[in-house]
Amino acid sequence: MKALYTGSFDPITYGHLDIIEKSSNIFDTVTVGIIVNPNKTSLFTLEERMETVKNLVKEYPNVDVDCFQGLLADYVNSEGFGAVIRGLRGISDLSYETQMAYMNDKLFDQGVETVFLLSDHAHSFISSSMVKEVASLGGSIDQLVPEEVKIKVLEKYNK
Ligand code: COA
Repeated sequence: MKALYTGSFDPITYGHLDIIEKSSNIFDTVTVGIIVNPNKTSLFTLEERMETVKNLVKEYPNVDVDCFQGLLADYVNSEGFGAVIRGLRGISDLSYETQMAYMNDKLFDQGVETVFLLSDHAHSFISSSMVKEVASLGGSIDQLVPEEVKIKVLEKYNK
């Protein structure tokens, strides 16, 4: 089964890496699909995000990295993914994620499923926005992102 784990990854955090590791143990292959999201202003360019994610997933032989824009379902159907993974950090993610899953279910080819994986409790509070806010204000992000991500985030804020 070929699975897709998608998101903005601006930047990738320990929370995302936890879901990637869990997915790589469950599915034959996992593609981390970085979205070019016109509704979000990114701190990192698509190329920067691709490079960072590639470096961090190279220890997993069945994980690769790609990018897409437009409708998620078009990308999923055209690439032949059988599952789309979403990480749940807790009950607060469930409402939005359920709505999106039902909508996507109408758009995905037959047999494609949204699969929810529960984030590790230790990462349940992390979001990319929080990483950026804390870093921009001079707080420590050591517990939130790997060292190489931390360096790149701090560079962006001239810290
Ligand atoms: N650990 C840490 N943080 C996590 C996380 C985890 N396991 N899971 C989600 N997050 C955070 C992200 O860091 C992100 O934080 P931010 O908002 O502060 O940047 C937030 O949760 C949202 O995550 P993400 O999954 O990256 O959402 P997104 O909005 O960037 O992208 C898509 C979600 C790509 C699935 C959605 O926008 C999409 O499908 N877009 C394509 C257009 C489309 O098809 N629309 C119709 C959908 S029905």
